[in-house]
Amino acid sequence: MLRSADCGSLRRENDGDQVTLAGWVGRRRDHGGIIFLDLRDRSGIAQVVFNPETAADAARIAEEVRPEWVVQVKGTVNRRPEGSDNPAIPTGEIEVMATELTVLNRSLTPPFYIEEDAEADESLRLRYRYLDLRRPPMLRNLTLRHNVVRYIRDFLSDRNFLEIETPILIKSTPEGARDFLVPSRMQPGNFYALPQSPQQMKQLLMVSGVERYFQIARCFRDEDLRADRQLEFTQLDLEMSFVEEDDILDLTEELYIGMIESVAPGKKLTKPFPRITYDEAMDRYASDKPDLRFGLEMTDVTSLASESEFRVFLSTIDGGGRIKGFVAPGQAHFTTSQVRELEETAKVAGAGGLVHVRYRGTNPVGQLSEEEIVQSAGLRMPAEWHQRLADKMGAGPGDLVLIMAGRQPRLNTWLTALRTYVGDLLELPDPNELAFAFVTKFPLFEWNEDGKRWDSSHHPFTSPDDGEEKDLDGEDLSAIRSKAYDLVCNGSELASGSIRIHNRQLQEKIFEILGHSKEEVESRFGQILEAFEYGAPPHGGIAPGIDRLVAILCGSASIRDVIAFPKTQSGADLLFNAPTPVAQAQLDELGLRVVQQPE
Ligand code: AMO
Repeated sequence: MLRSADCGSLRRENDGDQVTLAGWVGRRRDHGGIIFLDLRDRSGIAQVVFNPETAADAARIAEEVRPEWVVQVKGTVNRRPEGSDNPAIPTGEIEVMATELTVLNRSLTPPFYIEEDAEADESLRLRYRYLDLRRPPMLRNLTLRHNVVRYIRDFLSDRNFLEIETPILIKSTPEGARDFLVPSRMQPGNFYALPQSPQQMKQLLMVSGVERYFQIARCFRDEDLRADRQLEFTQLDLEMSFVEEDDILDLTEELYIGMIESVAPGKKLTKPFPRITYDEAMDRYASDKPDLRFGLEMTDVTSLASESEFRVFLSTIDGGGRIKGFVAPGQAHFTTSQVRELEETAKVAGAGGLVHVRYRGTNPVGQLSEEEIVQSAGLRMPAEWHQRLADKMGAGPGDLVLIMAGRQPRLNTWLTALRTYVGDLLELPDPNELAFAFVTKFPLFEWNEDGKRWDSSHHPFTSPDDGEEKDLDGEDLSAIRSKAYDLVCNGSELASGSIRIHNRQLQEKIFEILGHSKEEVESRFGQILEAFEYGAPPHGGIAPGIDRLVAILCGSASIRDVIAFPKTQSGADLLFNAPTPVAQAQLDELGLRVVQQPE
């Protein structure tokens, strides 16, 4: 080994130890001929001191070294002189008096400082990702990610799960995104698809009798990228036989609680995780992934609104829309310009507008004077009506009431945007809290207005809820509930799963409703339908996204911060400069011709 100790491991107990360290040169300071150099390796930073009177050669080299040079230092660990401790770093009570310094490699001047805070632009960081990852916070993120995956592997192995790899070159398995295709050289004109998830394969493993499967699985989806979406990402993919919904949820909950208490012990958790139905989540929070760290719960006030003479309300109700809102407690003091900001937020989210009422006064709402009820222009309702509104919404004197009118599902989207904004504005969410919840009984289908057809809400392999199967022959399929569930946390979806269909006839019926022709079903899903006829056990599973979980645990706003080599928003890899054109010879071999896209 080129070293005997790690820089970050040294403590006052090491006083007097002879050590050899190796690492990268950080900051250097010259104090009257004595040189102080921060030496950094993965474990942390140690301060190394070069005294020209006692180690002339080493001090001379120390003057030459530059940031990010790789060096080896031999020396003695010393307690720092009285008053010069640095409590900001774990090695702050010691320094290493160098006797020798060897340059192992030089470095060009890096394009940005290798420090805690990322001051550099993200595209520069991605272009030089290997330097960006040298920064301590990035190494901490990768370490946490490793600990998460390690915990998962141990936890599931202890419970008799088998980790099984499934192929990356497969036939399309739909999760609602576009496939990445891979041309076959051996069968020109034919293509593999990269898995959007190992969904069909894990179900086939249940037919095989594996009973308990998991995989840290890479998934590929050609979809528009956001802060929490990448073209390729990682799932803990999991499937079990002979289980019901609660068995999967119980196992997931135990895994998450144990994991977080082990890898991120300071986090605040609510145990057990609340389980709410999709309908309840939509009613109370206008979202199927509510942020449960704060209240601001919704109330539907359509019937009260229909008593008003407010045009916006009446025309919305006439058009089949709803009137819904929430209370910002104690915020009646909002100024007109503050309310205007809320209106702006609602409009940016897509809403036509925002109705507000400020109950300014201390008496019960019904006894407030006209001046004390500050309401949106056009509303002009008497105190008596406001008393009933306040009762219905749980509002009182001093509160600010916010209401929107519109058709679902868009109304809920606007309300969620506003709820999140107001929550942040009032600093309601505790950044240290992880408010997990299971959302259950998702609709089986959702209407696709553009395509004028029914889509699966989760995926086509999801089982209808008990007793709902008979409604598959009806007209309105939107009321059918399923055995699909999500794990949500702080307003994000972290995992999705379902109890599956394991019966050929039912599965075919679902494909038929989704508008697939018999031929299409046979060619795309023939393998799984056939497998269902050879003794498929009842089964179900879940797939937690690892990137999103680790990002939340690290407090990162983007999953790019927890992926070693992520892609940009436009799907580019700035380090390898991918994607790129390929040589004509490669195209010829694959029988492909590139058609130039018009500018
Ligand atoms: P689903 O498509 O809901 O379910 O995905 C499960 C979880 O994977 C994560 N995820 C993503 N993370 C980063 N970038 C993306 N583009 C991305 N897409 C999804 C999310 C999500 O909750 N086969 C089913 C699971 C099952 O039924 O067992 C599936 O893939 O955290």
